[in-house]
Amino acid sequence: MYNQLKIFSGNSNPDLANEIAKHLNTELGQREIIKFSNENIKVKITESVRGQDVFVVQTSCPPVSDNIMEMLIMIHALRGASADRITAVIPYFPYVRSDKKDEPRISITAKLMADLIKTAGADRVLTMDLHAAQIQGFFDMPADQLLALPILCKYFIEKNLQNIVVVAGDVGRAKLNIKYAERLKAPLAILEKRRDGDKEKAKVANVIGNVKGKTAIMFDDEILTGGSLMELVKALKREGAVDIYAGITHGILSKRAVPNIARSSLKELVITNTVPLPKEKQIDKIKVLSVAKLFAKAIENIHLGRPISTLFQTGGEEECS
Ligand code: R5P
Repeated sequence: MYNQLKIFSGNSNPDLANEIAKHLNTELGQREIIKFSNENIKVKITESVRGQDVFVVQTSCPPVSDNIMEMLIMIHALRGASADRITAVIPYFPYVRSDKKDEPRISITAKLMADLIKTAGADRVLTMDLHAAQIQGFFDMPADQLLALPILCKYFIEKNLQNIVVVAGDVGRAKLNIKYAERLKAPLAILEKRRDGDKEKAKVANVIGNVKGKTAIMFDDEILTGGSLMELVKALKREGAVDIYAGITHGILSKRAVPNIARSSLKELVITNTVPLPKEKQIDKIKVLSVAKLFAKAIENIHLGRPISTLFQTGGEEECS
């Protein structure tokens, strides 16, 4: 059993951090973050954390490198200030797509991130929907991965859509999307997506399964440029899907993703607040669900030494309300 639980936030997603703290009936820990004219970052923890169980909330969003540095420096400062245990709470983990050596002489940067977090002084990591689950193995410390699945599925169940088919945007995603299909009691269709090297543009080659006359819901871990989603919408329409929805955990929505979504025949994109959505990107077609309760409950259970496995079923709803 650890002493007092404390939540600290970096500058990447203060709204989510505040919401998490609120669910835990606490306030964010006091710290100062200064960026000097040479772009060096200084963190000062302005309250005692000696012997305490500290959680640092920082997500990966622009400016990505600054946010990573800020988190590492904050963890290091907390370690130096004698926090008893430090958990890096990283809703959207940086560099998750750099998880394998599939070309000569490239880095596996997600592994480097895991090592840096450890070196900075973290004892454990709490994250959500890694691009590939085996990234958990990159950590030389406990790493818990929450799933947005219960939150996204609950939303679509409450929408009461009929004649649904769950769609996996590529073959690699099919295994996880079976769980979504089971939860929604729907069949699964798989798209065969091909990408040329580092090019952000993807092409759909084939649709495996029946989508004709159905309401298609595609689930994925992240949306960047929206290129994959736009290709998928076209392919599903071509194959006769009636309505198309998408449920995607991390809504980065870079480049022209938002205007393209607005113009497309996608009915609705549902994302979560693991990454903040700036005002100018907020449109009616994009619905944001909060993961704060789920993170709050996971933090509470970690603090109390309780399992978090129940949260894979409930999304924290029952436990936190
Ligand atoms: C790819 O394997 C991922 O699951 C996403 O489909 C991809 O990262 C989305 O990127 P974009 O929106 O740029 O197509």
